[in-house]
Amino acid sequence: MQNKICIIGLGYVGLPLAMAFSKKFKVIGFDIDKERVDQLNTFEDKTNQATKKALEEALKTDLTLTSDLNLISDCNIYIVTVPTPVTKEKKPDLSFLLSASKTVGLCLKKGDLVIYESTVYPGCTEDDCVPVLERSSGLVFNKDFYCGYSPERINPGDKVNTLTKIKKVTSGSTPEAAQEVDELYNSIIEAGTHKTSSIKVAEASKAIENAQRDLNISFVNELALIFDRIGIDTTEVIEAAATKWNFLKFKPGLVGGHCISVDPYFLVHKAKSLGYTPEVILSGRNVNDQMGKFVASKVVSLMKEKGIKIEGSKALILGVTFKENCNDIRNSKVPDIYRELIDFGLAVDLYDPIAAAEEVIKTHQITLTKTPSKYEAIILAVSHDLFIENGVKDYKNPNGAVIYDIKSVLNRADVDGRL
Ligand SMILES: NC(=O)c1ccc[n+]([C@@H]2O[C@H](COP(=O)([O-])OP(=O)(O)OC[C@H]3O[C@@H](n4cnc5c(N)ncnc54)[C@H](O)[C@@H]3O)[C@@H](O)[C@H]2O)c1
Repeated sequence: MQNKICIIGLGYVGLPLAMAFSKKFKVIGFDIDKERVDQLNTFEDKTNQATKKALEEALKTDLTLTSDLNLISDCNIYIVTVPTPVTKEKKPDLSFLLSASKTVGLCLKKGDLVIYESTVYPGCTEDDCVPVLERSSGLVFNKDFYCGYSPERINPGDKVNTLTKIKKVTSGSTPEAAQEVDELYNSIIEAGTHKTSSIKVAEASKAIENAQRDLNISFVNELALIFDRIGIDTTEVIEAAATKWNFLKFKPGLVGGHCISVDPYFLVHKAKSLGYTPEVILSGRNVNDQMGKFVASKVVSLMKEKGIKIEGSKALILGVTFKENCNDIRNSKVPDIYRELIDFGLAVDLYDPIAAAEEVIKTHQITLTKTPSKYEAIILAVSHDLFIENGVKDYKNPNGAVIYDIKSVLNRADVDGRL
């Protein structure tokens, strides 16, 4: 039988996946957000994952994008790529995943395969999603239908390491399902696949990729807090240490976004449910969450050192997205700096031509400035190419200003401080 694939959730992960699969199979992309589907059908992708041309070409051939549930019921493979955020209390919010599972369950037929790509904790697919699939479909797991888990590893904004260039971890609920999942991805992933022995192993592999990155960054962030007190430059120390072959060269910085700053909590949740409270993972999270506050107070103390009065001064923050050259603002830590500086009594402008201004208002309740002027403090928070190319000197108040470079990308001689 020729596969017909349905991708549930057309965001940063789902859209590129639907487009990649549509080069080999008939694909229906389904999203509950009708506005998103309408935009995509007019070749507009606000996530910047697909160009107008690529979308137009894909939609001319085997890709259909819809919000109409009736159109997805004759698929035989369902791939779920919906969000998995955490709640305010940092607990996994499975509402999107469970609701998508209910939707898929309504369409399931004997022999169908359901693959999850959303980031979860080990056990989530089989313990949380499968019961919903069974209830909603009336079918029996591993008898009537099968599951797989294949974590997404894309890096939005990165034009080199794109979906098909990154090795894909695959798994299935039976050896046969695992083989089917593996072959399916192998047909589109140029970098190949890595099949694990169980769904739990694949789920855990994704959770630890991001938790490891979070921890490595938290270590250098902690070093930045220590070296600031000592009065030495962290980047210089790291560059010196990195001349040894086995030193891991991580840079200090703000850790935001909905992967690295979120996924460790999935692991924490699972560990706690089994009676173990992780210390290392949580302490890394705590350090990383402090960095916005540290940057703001550092900028203020550098201003005082230069004799610039704080009250009534203006500060400019360059960049609000959670990473460079990407328009995603979810869980960005830049607003922490913004609010801290306001608490210190500064008037703060936030400038980011890459971010969507309406999204920033909606998500962070901050209005972006369109025309930055002159400032007593300038903070480079996100290293978008355009900020590096243009530099920051134009924004300096000629009577005195502090430049702080969070990303350590500007010329050292031109800045007053960096992380
Ligand atoms: N963005 C990344 O860089 C990245 C990388 C690797 C893994 N992930 C993981 O992939 C998953 C998806 O992330 P994303 O960034 O693509 O999210 P996203 O918010 O960009 O997109 C999710 C889409 O799912 C839709 N949706 C929500 N509930 C739905 C439902 N019940 N039925 C159909 N559609 C529904 C939303 O409308 C939205 O368009 C998350 O678990 C995330 O952690 C993301």
